[in-house]
Parts: sequence; C-alpha cells; structure tokens
Amino acid sequence: MTPAPPDLPTVEGAVEVLRRGGLVAFPTETVYGLGADASNEAAVARIFAVKGRPPHHPLIVHLPSAEALEAWARGDLAAAHRLAERFWPGPLTLVLRRQPWVSHRVTGGAETVALRVPAHPLALELLRRFGGGIAAPSANRFGSVSPTTAQHVRQSLGDAVDLILDGGPCPVGVESTILDLSGSTPAVLRPGGVPREELEAVLGHALLVPARPNVPSPGQHPRHYSPTATLLLVERESLPWEAIRLSRAGRRVGVLLPPGSPPLPGEVHAAVRLPADLAEYARQLYALLFHLDELGCQVILATLPPEEGLGAAIADRLRRAAAGETPF
Ligand code: TXA
Ligand code: MG
Repeated sequence: MTPAPPDLPTVEGAVEVLRRGGLVAFPTETVYGLGADASNEAAVARIFAVKGRPPHHPLIVHLPSAEALEAWARGDLAAAHRLAERFWPGPLTLVLRRQPWVSHRVTGGAETVALRVPAHPLALELLRRFGGGIAAPSANRFGSVSPTTAQHVRQSLGDAVDLILDGGPCPVGVESTILDLSGSTPAVLRPGGVPREELEAVLGHALLVPARPNVPSPGQHPRHYSPTATLLLVERESLPWEAIRLSRAGRRVGVLLPPGSPPLPGEVHAAVRLPADLAEYARQLYALLFHLDELGCQVILATLPPEEGLGAAIADRLRRAAAGETPF
C-alpha cells in the first residue's frame, strides 16, 4: 500500500490540527461537521467566529463511544445508555446534564451538554485517534444550507478551516435527531436522522415534541438551513401553476418536484424530480438546494413530504428554510 501523498489530508494530520487548537471539517453520516477540541476554549471560540454563529448557541460534542458518556454528563444516565446501545454510532444527539468542567463556550451557558457518537468511519477514526471530544456544528455559515460533501464545505467556508477530510457524500443527509433527556420528560428538540417512532419504540412511550424548546437553539431559529434563493412552500396541486406564474413574471424558478408529478413546461428554469423513498430524499435534500442555487434560481418551490419517519426531518428543514419568506 502506498502512503497518501503529503498534500492529501489524512486523519493523522487532522488529529494534529485539533491538538494545536485548529479547525477540522470532517464527514459524519448526517452532514459535514466543523470540529475543534471540545476542551480547548480558544479552539471552540474559533468555530463561532468562522461560522458567524451567535455565541450563546450550544454545540454538539462528538464522542468516540458511549463509554465517554460519564466523562461529559452526570445524573441518571440509564436511558442515555439504553438509547446509545441501540442508536450509537448514529444520528442521535442526547442532551444531558453536563459535568461541571464542560466549558460554557460549548454549552452556550446551559447546564446541559449535547452528545453524540457519529456513524461515519472517518469520523470514528478521527475521534478514536484524537481520544477526546470534538465540538462540531455543521460546517456551513450560520443560517445557510448544511454541507453534505467536502466540496460544499469548501464553497461555504473556504480557507477559514485548517483541514477538510473528504469522506464522500453523507449517507443520511439531514442532521441528527436531538433528544433532551435532561428534564423530567424526554423531548425531541430537533427531528433528524433517527425517526421519532424508532426512539419511542425503544423508550416504550410517546415523546414530547415541544413547539419551542426552553434552550436557545440555532436549529430552532425561524430562518435556518436556507439556500440563497427564496424557498417557498406550496400545496402540491398549485405547484405547476405557481411555477409557471413566477416564471412568466420573469423569475428563474427552481422546483423540487414531488414523485409522480407531471413534468413542468420548459419555461420553468430548473426542476429536479424527488425520489419517492424518504431516506433517499433526505440524502439528496441539501445537495439539491445547493444545485438549484448554482443554477442561478431566484425562487425554489417545494411541497412538504409526508411527516412520518425521515419525512419529519425533511419537512422541518424545508419549513425553516422557507421561514420569513413572503410569496412573490
Ligand atoms: O448531525 C448533526 O447533529 C450535525 C453533525 C455535524 O453532527 N451537527 C449539527 O450541529 O447539526 P449544529 O450546531 O448545526 O446543530 C446543533 C444543534 C443546535 O440546534 C443546538 O442548539 C443544539 O444542537 N444543541 C446543542 N447543545 C444543546 C443543549 N445543551 N441543549 C439544547 N440544544 C442543544
Ligand atoms: Mg447547523
């Protein structure tokens, strides 16, 4: 086996960058993360600077395995271990009471900390070799679409990141599900890669999905995950007419066309047909938004998918991407 050429980023190189307080973008199964040593305050501060993220918004700490839970979280961790057993490594983030030493830079001043073990082989190798926790938000500028390829990380953050590990396209494509176990009743703070139904099956009871969590969450901001184009949600029946009307009004219209819809006339700038399978849709969602932006679309029209399984996460991201937009 020939060693990788020196200019190709390696996991060893990434570990060195983390050790000296730098930033590493790395693939997870959900989206690419922008990682820093979670126990290095200055390094964590750089994440906020590079992303343009308000400082009180907490970060997820990525761990090499569930064995690290006790080092970061305290209190009764029985439910956390049960869920970890079933879903880690995987797209589930657990919000737990933090150990007193965990930095407020990471927790945004909260008494809780968000933890997850990602399922991507490169992420796991990085975490195992690094040994500590890696604080990582999605590797995009605050408010914009999360990257699911190394190319999109480069486009979004450029030279602001010290090293980018390229692990190909992310297989899940939407962020992790965030489950808050810190209060008296478990609550889903963000739908994501693990469907709520699967969590309920393991916990043996229905889960709360609060309309507004009591902790500040950028993922809960009304406008988030947005492409440059204006994203508008429309009813499926009115989609063709809206696409035609806006195109005739001189807009470059992009359409996320639901499966089974008839094709649109050529005057519509760009239409991409969505896969019927929701896992496949989730995998492609952010890349499709990037693609329609690149094609110069000014408006993107979308409909909401059925909100079961991964459909809940897709619908959540579409709603937030569209939040605050006024129809033309
Ligand atoms: O899939 C993911 O979760 C990706 C990959 C990179 O792991 N990460 C991600 O990070 O989506 P970010 O920073 O874009 O979103 C983290 C979410 C935010 O909504 C944040 O408010 C919430 O996690 N969060 C972090 N710590 C929290 C805490 N202590 N309590 C409540 N929410 C928390
Ligand atoms: Mg994000």
